[in-house]
Amino acid sequence: MRLIFLGPPGVGKGTQAKRICEHYNIIHLSTGDILRSEMTEKTEIGEKAKAFIDAGELVPDDVLLGMMNNRLKKDDVQSGYLLDGFPRTIPQADGLNKIMDDLSHSLNCALSLTADADELVQRLINRGKESGRSDDTPDIIRQRQKIYWKQTAPLLDFYREKKLLKEVDGIGKISEITDRILEVLK
Ligand code: C5P
Ligand code: MG
Repeated sequence: MRLIFLGPPGVGKGTQAKRICEHYNIIHLSTGDILRSEMTEKTEIGEKAKAFIDAGELVPDDVLLGMMNNRLKKDDVQSGYLLDGFPRTIPQADGLNKIMDDLSHSLNCALSLTADADELVQRLINRGKESGRSDDTPDIIRQRQKIYWKQTAPLLDFYREKKLLKEVDGIGKISEITDRILEVLK
């Protein structure tokens, strides 16, 4: 099983991704988490990414594509994975297609979790009090939402045209949302 999770910041991609990966026994690849750990370790990628992340902007496509090209070649992901937070732009989606073709990986589904934007801002402000994430502050949250609608939302049509898009309502109890996702993936 190979999946992409799409959806605005705060919709619960990470929370649901963990549960879906457990269900299918596949690897959860959160590019946000990978970038944050690169930042903590002060790697070259981390140093490049820091200013973009702190401003709520997207790290350049070539950085993400290079990072994911390496990651998707590793043994542990050969039997399946869930991409959480990647691709974020059309060039990233085109690049991912190429990476997956070269590895003979086919995509099962791009799953979009949906929710009302105002509700999400409030959720993230609350998360920010505990997450310690430098980008979970009200201004940066609004910036990240804006970037999502401008740069990432076009991916919905991109995958819809490929007949790979499924949409799931992301509002409700965590376990209910997981059930909805499992239902559309059947
Ligand atoms: O996915 P997540 O919300 O954890 O990502 C946090 C930040 O990491 C984004 O706001 C963005 O700055 C950066 N990011 C990115 N490109 C990705 C994934 C994350 O630029 N594909
Ligand atoms: Mg996340």
